[in-house]
Amino acid sequence: MAPAIELIGITKRFPGVIANDDVNLRVEEGEIHAICGENGAGKSTLMKILYGMQAADEGTMKIRGEEVSFSSPSEAIERGIGMVHQHFMLADQLTVLENVIIGAEPVKSGGRIDFENARAHLREVGDAYGLTIDPDDLVERLEVGERQRVEIIKVLYRGAKILILDEPTAVLVPQEVDELFRNMRDLRADGATILFIDHKLDEVLEIADTITVLRQGHTVATVKPDEVSAGDLAELMVGSELPTPQTTRSTVTDEVGLEVRDLTVLDDDERPVVEHVSVTVHRGEIVGIAGVEGNGQTELTDAIMGTRDAASGHIVLLGHDITTTSVRHRRQQGLGYVPQDRHREGLLLAAPLWENVALGHQTEPPYAHGPWLDRAGSKARTEEVREEFDVRTPNIDVAAHALSGGNQQKLIIGRELVANPSVLIAAHPTRGIDVGAQAAVWDAIRAARAAGMATLLISADLDELIGLSDTIVVMLRGSLVATLDPTDVTPRDLGAYMTGASLEEAS
Ligand SMILES: Nc1ncnc2c1ncn2[C@@H]1O[C@H](COP(=O)(O)OP(=O)(O)OP(=O)(O)O)[C@@H](O)[C@H]1O
Ligand SMILES: [Mg+2]
Repeated sequence: MAPAIELIGITKRFPGVIANDDVNLRVEEGEIHAICGENGAGKSTLMKILYGMQAADEGTMKIRGEEVSFSSPSEAIERGIGMVHQHFMLADQLTVLENVIIGAEPVKSGGRIDFENARAHLREVGDAYGLTIDPDDLVERLEVGERQRVEIIKVLYRGAKILILDEPTAVLVPQEVDELFRNMRDLRADGATILFIDHKLDEVLEIADTITVLRQGHTVATVKPDEVSAGDLAELMVGSELPTPQTTRSTVTDEVGLEVRDLTVLDDDERPVVEHVSVTVHRGEIVGIAGVEGNGQTELTDAIMGTRDAASGHIVLLGHDITTTSVRHRRQQGLGYVPQDRHREGLLLAAPLWENVALGHQTEPPYAHGPWLDRAGSKARTEEVREEFDVRTPNIDVAAHALSGGNQQKLIIGRELVANPSVLIAAHPTRGIDVGAQAAVWDAIRAARAAGMATLLISADLDELIGLSDTIVVMLRGSLVATLDPTDVTPRDLGAYMTGASLEEAS
């Protein structure tokens, strides 16, 4: 039987980079095929070519033996291909239902959109794959994990039989990953072919039938999961061993960096989403917050950063009450921030890298000289970030959107750490970063910790949370429900606390 997909000699060049260099890929019908490789290896580019979003400069694509060429995603969709992107592409102001049907609306006679029909079909698709979501929720209200579910439903709604998932697990906790994997297996049992990208090698080994490894735009290997270990895969990808986040020596001081005191924060409907939260982070300490997304972590970090008001309680930075001060003031006082959504909050995608590095600090040296922007200073600092955090780019004048996802993340981490913050709020700092670069980010955070930085770490990567943190608190339905010692807790235990299972057992 002809393979579901065959890509032969695909080459794609961007100014200064060859993203795909004579790549070959063969995906059998009905298999789950993983694509692995370091940041910038060309994974997303290859998938976008298959999905008709980008045109290859050279090469041939075959779907079930038949040569195809797509000039737009709609042509790929017609051939049953669907893609969920690394960065979601939903319209915030629309509902789940509107987002799912956009561009594929059923119409009634007279040309009106048949919402009833659409709703029924949406429910069918959701039920069939156990993907439940309220069709009338506004997308802007959804957490990342829920947005992903909407994206997957959207692809299935269009009848896709070949699904491309670009880093679907990056945003999920272990329990949600289990659920996604169940869904993927169900889809496979139903005859779907799934291509997916993942940086977590244990996950790849668990779910994939076949693994293709890309390195610097080349295919370097295609292997079966039972032939290789996670270490072998890391070696194939980046040529080095698997790093661990483990931090040993404590550097915790008595000096308080950040104190959140009895903080309550309301959501847009005036409901409390953070309730009476108190947490203290000392200089030299990393406090990890564990929690399923949507339990108030976003609102808590928004309130600390000053983008959302506190309803009551206090936020104290290095002894100064900052509860009602501006974002800019907080940043000037030494508060650094790695946001959970790099596209919405972290970057100006159309601006060059050096402007992005100045972002948030553009009124201070070396980015400014008196009231003037200091281009030379900004560029020099950006070169430092590029060097130290291994941001792979042809130059620092390219726009941020031209970087691969992991390299965008490295740029943000670098920008924040190079500013030497006293307190860092880090939401998923290594999300989407390859195993080699992850080690570099962990090292940088540890070094800053040793130098006295107080860090509030929010992460869905429980190994990272356990490995890096000095203390872990669990956030559930807006409250901190447990304080745990990372030296004697496993990811599974933590998962049980996060879902509330442990509390129910205890009571
Ligand atoms: N639109 C673009 N313009 C210019 N260069 C681009 C563009 N898209 C990607 N590139 C470059 O192509 C290379 C491959 O990028 P790609 O996004 O495919 O990497 P990736 O393997 O998906 O990495 P990651 O794991 O970080 O997501 C990178 O060097 C990137 O900078
Ligand atoms: Mg990518």
